[in-house]
Amino acid sequence: MSLTVKFEKLLAGRSELFRASEVRELLKVTEGGDVISLAGGYPDPRVFPKDDLAEIAKEVISDEASRALQYSPTAGVTEFREELKKFMRRRGVTVRSDDDIIVTTGSQQALDLVARTFVEKDDEIIVELPTYLAALNAFRLSKPGMTAIPLDESGMRTDILESEIKRLKWLGREIKFIYTIPVAHNPTGITMSLERKKELLEIASKYDLVIIEDDPYSYFVYDDGVDITPIKTLDKEGRVVYMSTFSKILAPGLRIGWVLGNEYVTNVLERAKQTADLHTSTLTQIIAMEALRRGVVDKTIDKARQIYRVKRDAMLEALKKYMVEEAWWPNPVGGFFVMVFLPSYDIDTKKMLPEALKKGVAYVPGASFFANGMGWNTMRLNFSYPSPEQIDEGVKRLAGLIQEKLTGEKVRITPISFFKSGGMF
Ligand SMILES: Cc1ncc(COP(=O)(O)O)c(C=O)c1O
Repeated sequence: MSLTVKFEKLLAGRSELFRASEVRELLKVTEGGDVISLAGGYPDPRVFPKDDLAEIAKEVISDEASRALQYSPTAGVTEFREELKKFMRRRGVTVRSDDDIIVTTGSQQALDLVARTFVEKDDEIIVELPTYLAALNAFRLSKPGMTAIPLDESGMRTDILESEIKRLKWLGREIKFIYTIPVAHNPTGITMSLERKKELLEIASKYDLVIIEDDPYSYFVYDDGVDITPIKTLDKEGRVVYMSTFSKILAPGLRIGWVLGNEYVTNVLERAKQTADLHTSTLTQIIAMEALRRGVVDKTIDKARQIYRVKRDAMLEALKKYMVEEAWWPNPVGGFFVMVFLPSYDIDTKKMLPEALKKGVAYVPGASFFANGMGWNTMRLNFSYPSPEQIDEGVKRLAGLIQEKLTGEKVRITPISFFKSGGMF
């Protein structure tokens, strides 16, 4: 049926910035078919504590309907926020006396609120190179300039950060915040060293900048001896705004995230949230609160960590076994992903995707994680959702395709050349 109303003429200019997320589009393609999906970032459903959640949900609705099915405060159910503060303290995240918590509809909403609250057209924000693509999409709506700071295996390159800040200041740019995913970074799996965290804080303090610390993955670190001290805990000046989510430690369908930061900031975020959705579901907040109180969250984290460690190892094993020798990937000490750098700049992973789907494997092309438009020869592979057997088969299919594509001169890309290039890795 042809459309008679010309909706496109009515759209606001900003609607052009609502980019279809590549991950979401891909998930549509891979749903149900024979394609092994190494795309997406879904938790393994075996991790969901469904019996515990069913029991809690039944109790909450039967016994507390007048509260659980009612509207609730925009900042979140008060008792739940207190419970979250306790949970944060238990996990070594400092809660200062001038801090407060706001519950958000997933941490995606927190990213959106932070951008809407802080950023105006032509402000500058600093992100990692690469970084979480849905964060970039949320930030882009406010039309800022984005400066992307490369990572190496210890996290954000603080030497480059400082020189970029000096350059931006010299240009008279207003820097609104530095966004970082310090532990088990999405998409690279890299974890920032303690030294780098301290340097980052020193620089933020020197230039009086705010740090947005996005931490969905510190619960899932698989190797011993990895420092996961939150930047928030090292912060003596209250300049770190910390966010996390129940999406990986309980279930993403609950849509619960939270922001912990200076009460001035959480107050403004609360006002921004009011216009977005009044509040996050009261029902799922109370379910999550009970899950915290009854130890279900801790149990889920322990179980998930074991399951995901096996899958991470299966992914690294498969890459070692099948992937072309010249490709390179940083070792993910945790999280859900591995980012593979292909040995030829001639391979554009976005263009290659339809061929990969034909061969029965999906991944996320890396370019959308790079705020500077690079990364076209990279891909993000997920290991949390597929089974170890699917991981093995998926990587085998992908490696076969890449081998076919590698014609002509191969450019050997080693960590050294990435680090040296300073531009990408
Ligand atoms: C780094 C990062 N931040 C935020 C999110 C958003 O998660 P949610 O909205 O489910 O809490 C994700 C999800 O994968 C993520 O990887």
